[in-house]
Amino acid sequence: MVKDEIIKKQINFTLKETNFENLGKKYKGKVRDVYTSDDKIFLIATDRQSAFDRNLANIPFKGQVLTQTSAFWFEKTKDIIPNHIIDIPDPNVVVCKKLKVFSVEMVIRGYITGVTSTAAWTAYSKGERNFCGNILPEGLKKNQKFEKPIITPTTKSDEHDEKISAEDIVRKGLMTQGQWNYISDKTFKLFQRGTQIAAENGLILVDTKYEFGYDDKGNIFLIDEIHTPDSSRFWIKGSYEEKFSKGEEPEYIDKEFLRLWFTEHCDPYKDETLPEAPEELVVELSRRYIRLYEMITSNEFKTEVGDVSGRIEKNLKEKGYL
Ligand SMILES: Nc1ncnc2c1ncn2[C@@H]1O[C@H](COP(=O)(O)OP(=O)(O)O)[C@@H](O)[C@H]1O
Ligand SMILES: [Mg+2]
Repeated sequence: MVKDEIIKKQINFTLKETNFENLGKKYKGKVRDVYTSDDKIFLIATDRQSAFDRNLANIPFKGQVLTQTSAFWFEKTKDIIPNHIIDIPDPNVVVCKKLKVFSVEMVIRGYITGVTSTAAWTAYSKGERNFCGNILPEGLKKNQKFEKPIITPTTKSDEHDEKISAEDIVRKGLMTQGQWNYISDKTFKLFQRGTQIAAENGLILVDTKYEFGYDDKGNIFLIDEIHTPDSSRFWIKGSYEEKFSKGEEPEYIDKEFLRLWFTEHCDPYKDETLPEAPEELVVELSRRYIRLYEMITSNEFKTEVGDVSGRIEKNLKEKGYL
């Protein structure tokens, strides 16, 4: 358990952005800074908290939680599919294989939920029944488990992700039929493994998304991140049934509550500037992310208060990357 004191101290040192020269061409993602060199990619997880396609706040230790949670899951799933990891030289940095990326996000859902305009529950409650080619039955309740998980892919774009069916993915040439068959099969298997390990640790893996890439020989790899709080939703398993049967919201430990705060205090889709998230909520989110890491991995989360960027630079130099 990391003390609130430590989290509060780290608020002054959150990693908002990096600017490393000589690491490669930089692309600033929503959450990660990506440096591309000749044959490698450096994924540096910052502490940025993204939602509604914008940055809501900076959360102490978040980049470290993301990197270390992802690292845990890559290790636990490497028998299902090889992944892009080469090295983890710092708690916030992954060195990975440079691959061509399928411009499809493989979203998979075990439950129907969500509050945003793009959420599955929002669409279902408005009467939509066809979800990327999956026809859903009548009478589902919010937060209900699907009989079988469904894959609802979206296209990857800088603006807004668009839902797409398997048929259209192949028709538009984003994947061949063979690649789709392989990747969708791996998506189900990864989600099954995630669900099982989460359950052993008192969690429900509600939904998540995977990204895949391929090398010059056409070998397919799992890339990006896996089963992190950014790419996934988790609920507490022990209280789910009771809450669900009473029509109450499950206990969740993800960013949903911060999103809720913003939807209640402004219009995060339209307003030009956003209000500053209250410190209480920032600390709470950090605490939840750390707790999630500790629940999932059964490891103690090791913190170091101070300048993250300086530490990364030191580690990258020591390992000869800078
Ligand atoms: N092995 C890889 N090869 C090439 N690109 C990758 C690899 N792993 C992840 N990426 C890309 O790096 C970016 C990660 O940063 P992120 O903050 O998620 O950005 P985005 O806003 O684009 O989602 C993503 O665009 C992801 O597709
Ligand atoms: Mg991303």
